[in-house]
Amino acid sequence: MNKSLKWLGILFGGILGIALIGLLGYFIYWQIQARRTIEVDVASLEIPTDQTSIDRGEILVEIVRCTECHGKDLSGIVWAGRQRPILTGLFGPSNLTPGENGLENYTDEDYVRAIRHGVGQDGKALIYMPSNFYVDLNESDLGDIIAYLKTLPPSDEAGPPNNWFGPLLWNFVLSNPQGLPAIKMIDHEAVREIPIGPEPGDTLAYGEYLALPCKSCHGDDFAGVPLLERLGVASPNITPYSLGDWTEEEFFIAMREGAVPDGTFIPQSLMPWTAIGQLTDEELHAIWVYLQSLPAVAPEDAIEFQNSEG
Ligand code: HEC
Ligand code: HEC
Repeated sequence: MNKSLKWLGILFGGILGIALIGLLGYFIYWQIQARRTIEVDVASLEIPTDQTSIDRGEILVEIVRCTECHGKDLSGIVWAGRQRPILTGLFGPSNLTPGENGLENYTDEDYVRAIRHGVGQDGKALIYMPSNFYVDLNESDLGDIIAYLKTLPPSDEAGPPNNWFGPLLWNFVLSNPQGLPAIKMIDHEAVREIPIGPEPGDTLAYGEYLALPCKSCHGDDFAGVPLLERLGVASPNITPYSLGDWTEEEFFIAMREGAVPDGTFIPQSLMPWTAIGQLTDEELHAIWVYLQSLPAVAPEDAIEFQNSEG
């Protein structure tokens, strides 16, 4: 009796020991893969302080979806860990407001490093921060976004604590490129070389630039996505396959009032058209010209949607 108990104890002790060593090994692997320091040479950027730029920044944070993750007031959201903090750590998009609960000590360079390169103030890759979508932001738009962030009222609440102890979280992050864009998706040298972007007068090219954020929902070829996981709905095809019969005026009404020619309305909760509609006539015209220049892609020819972030 005593002897078999002893053996059982040794067996369980052994299993526990192996599990702990495995966890420790995984933790070390996580630290090396995800928490190593990344040196980036950040291009300097003059941040505007005039009201026009700040107002444009306010529109842009919705169009490029900072608010979708960081919250309507950009004070951060806890994504993981409410139920299972031991497995996932506590984690979520940070509080971006100035002040002690947010980015109190951020310099202009820190903002550019975080948004364009996906690298935090501590030199480590920001997790699930989709900077691979923001490397193409031109200087003026990036400057306006930062100008707006700096004028936000400081929030009273602390953002997510972002502690990293959580094997489930490590697994999500390491198995998804969008978990570590700074390491897996961004060429930090190339980011510096990006030209200021097309001039507004170059309508087609400027339209292509302005339509980049639409891809995150309507797909890389604008042919729609059967299921947008983060919204739980399909997104429609916006190539001439389905917008070919639209007039430019109908497109403007859809973007400014949410009303679609077939009599339905685009819910604001699914598409940030209240912000998109505040773009200038010239900008909406450029988007329209660009969308109409696309090949008409039938749903069966649409490329598979790869964006699984968030
Ligand atoms: C898909 C969700 C998502 C979107 C969209 C997103 N972020 Fe983030 N962002 C995150 C997450 C998650 C973190 C926290 C990363 C971490 O702590 O490792 C983060 C971190 C940051 C940080 C670093 C904050 C700190 O504590 O150092 C900044 C700055 C930032 N985001 C700005 C932006 C801006 C500006 C936009 C829009 C242009 C944006 N983010 C869009 C998810 C997102
Ligand atoms: C956050 C996701 C999201 C973004 C970003 C987004 N859309 Fe949409 N859009 C949708 C969804 C979802 C619908 C369908 C809503 C519904 O069910 O009525 C839609 C509908 C539309 C429609 C109506 C299509 C039709 O046939 O009824 C147009 C046009 C459109 N979007 C254009 C754009 C353009 C242009 C951009 C970029 C400037 C953009 N969208 C950005 C999600 C998005």
